[in-house]
Amino acid sequence: MENYLNMGIKAVIEEFPEIESILTDYDIGCGPCMVGTCLLKDIVSIHSLPKPDEKELMERISGVIINGSDSGKVNPENKTNKSISYSGPMQKLVDEHTLIKRWLALIPRVVEYIDLKTQSGKHIINDGIDMIRSYADKFHHAKEEDILFKYFDESKEIIQVMYKDHTKARALVQNMIKALESENKEQLSENLLTYMDLLKQHIQKEDEILYPWIDRELNETKLVEMDAKFIEADKESGIAEKKYEDMINDLEKLIP
Ligand SMILES: [Fe+2]
Ligand SMILES: [Fe+2]
Repeated sequence: MENYLNMGIKAVIEEFPEIESILTDYDIGCGPCMVGTCLLKDIVSIHSLPKPDEKELMERISGVIINGSDSGKVNPENKTNKSISYSGPMQKLVDEHTLIKRWLALIPRVVEYIDLKTQSGKHIINDGIDMIRSYADKFHHAKEEDILFKYFDESKEIIQVMYKDHTKARALVQNMIKALESENKEQLSENLLTYMDLLKQHIQKEDEILYPWIDRELNETKLVEMDAKFIEADKESGIAEKKYEDMINDLEKLIP
């Protein structure tokens, strides 16, 4: 068992496929979302399950590894409590996600109704792309990459997964710009919808896994220091959140 705890999760799942669905029972999505080099023991500690859940999960995993069978028993009383309380700087990032999620929620309707032959249609897409580049990327992702991740060993898988998502998102934005320039509605829709899926999953990983983990890892002094750095970065970015709030409010009224 000790050997498996120190093994990368993908390798463990490859040898014991049942473990992927056991992890899913505890809202741990290692199969689809992780690069796979994270150790089994780290996966358990990163997710910080309530103690009874953690005990049950480990019993089920060792049951599969040692006895070849999963007890499959999920004690409903042990169900994970989803309400998370964040430190000040993490709450700030979660709040920024809320505005980004409002734009993501509008994307399917934008894709359905958009007419790239009209100035107003192009204007909506230009505003949406500006929100992604300026607010989601320059304002929000930059704080994560230039400040937040720097408090950790950036080769850690949990950080690497987030970097990879940011890189994929930037490539999709480049595709959107090209599609808009060539008035290729199909290509634009495809990239907008792929971006929406990617960012929804990315935000969920950060809200539910990364930020709570960071709050457990950093002491109060570091969090206060980070908060000050966030305020400074917001000022330096020159980006006014209000502009994007207004834009989303208007768009929600236009395509309810
Ligand atoms: Fe991120
Ligand atoms: Fe984020």
